Amino acid sequence: MGESYNVRLEPVGIEFEVDEDETVLKGAFRQGLMLMHGCKEGQCAACKSFLLDGEVDLDKYSNFALNDFEKEEGWTLLCRAHAMSDLEVELINYDEEILRSGVPEQTEQLRVETLEPLTHDIYRLVLDATELKYRPGQYVDVKIPDSDEVRSFSMANLPEGGKLEFMIKAYPDGKFSSLLAEGTIEEGHELEVTGPYGVFTLRRKSERPLLFIGGGAGMAPILALLRQLADQGSERQAVYYYGARGPKDLFHLDELAELQEKLPNFTFVPALSDIEEEEDWEGERGLITDVVERCEEEISEMDAYLCGPPPMVDAAIAMLDAKGVPEDRVFYDKFTTTAPE
Ligand SMILES: Cc1cc2nc3c(=O)[nH]c(=O)nc-3n(C[C@H](O)[C@H](O)[C@H](O)COP(=O)(O)OP(=O)(O)OC[C@H]3O[C@@H](n4cnc5c(N)ncnc54)[C@H](O)[C@@H]3O)c2cc1C
Ligand code: FES
Repeated sequence: MGESYNVRLEPVGIEFEVDEDETVLKGAFRQGLMLMHGCKEGQCAACKSFLLDGEVDLDKYSNFALNDFEKEEGWTLLCRAHAMSDLEVELINYDEEILRSGVPEQTEQLRVETLEPLTHDIYRLVLDATELKYRPGQYVDVKIPDSDEVRSFSMANLPEGGKLEFMIKAYPDGKFSSLLAEGTIEEGHELEVTGPYGVFTLRRKSERPLLFIGGGAGMAPILALLRQLADQGSERQAVYYYGARGPKDLFHLDELAELQEKLPNFTFVPALSDIEEEEDWEGERGLITDVVERCEEEISEMDAYLCGPPPMVDAAIAMLDAKGVPEDRVFYDKFTTTAPE
């Protein structure tokens, strides 16, 4: 352990201790404080905050998340910052309900109970016998076997039941995901998971209509939120636009149809972007953001939840901004990938 320092968060007035060997974000997680974050790797800027007082040392980060000019001005990335003195940090992007709702992070060794394909490149992985407490919409870090690296995956299931269910897209050279596709990770193997993390959770205070937009494996945390709404018998107005390339990329259509039965005010709108005009398909066609723009006249009063690959999420954020949805009602998880060394 290194030197310990005090961190004071403004304007909420919360104080906690961090060790210089851990990042400020990690120290907060250890103590159950859910500061705003996304990738935890200096890539997405979700944890960007202003350093009012004190000194930090930054691990490797992307210039897109924090440029030199911002750094000079006093901006910092809490997921990369190690305290070198006591700190006073102004949170820019925060939600007090979420901040105080964290569960201290835990690490578990879990057995692979099920590994099966959902599509030609998305796998369903279920880990067994967890005692992890989390909120629907959150994610964990899974350690890559025989490596010190981790990858983040969102739970698709509800916390009760002692299992963690994931939807994982396989990339041919992906350090973790290729292990699923090529059979290196099999049922019965153990994986180490740490968490929970993430702020992609339903805000309890709001009763506004819900707009979900997702693509690819970004189905996972949105399905968790829909399962939560169904579990609560919610009558909230909700629509889920799901973008895929072609019919072979669609999955869980039966469960989504069932959710439409269970949730009286919920509609599922799948859209295909890579389909020829003459091909048979009764649903929407085009990029998911264009489909939302076309189908929804008035969305400025909705809470929006977006999840999927970063270009899709960025396009959806821009579309929502242009349509007048205030920034503080847009919640998202970008499935950023780990930067190459
Ligand atoms: C908060 C969060 C939650 C996440 N949840 C999920 C989830 O539920 N399901 C899920 O499948 N993923 C999720 N991800 C992404 C996941 O953590 C990994 O980044 C992803 O699985 C790739 O890891 P890998 O080790 O297989 O590939 P890597 O070894 O990291 O990448 C290998 C190669 O593949 C390329 N590559 C990787 N991803 C892409 C891509 N999207 N498009 C094009 N090329 C790519 C890389 O550039 C690299 O060249 C999440 C990410 C974050 C930050
Ligand atoms: S840059 Fe810090 S969480 Fe993404």
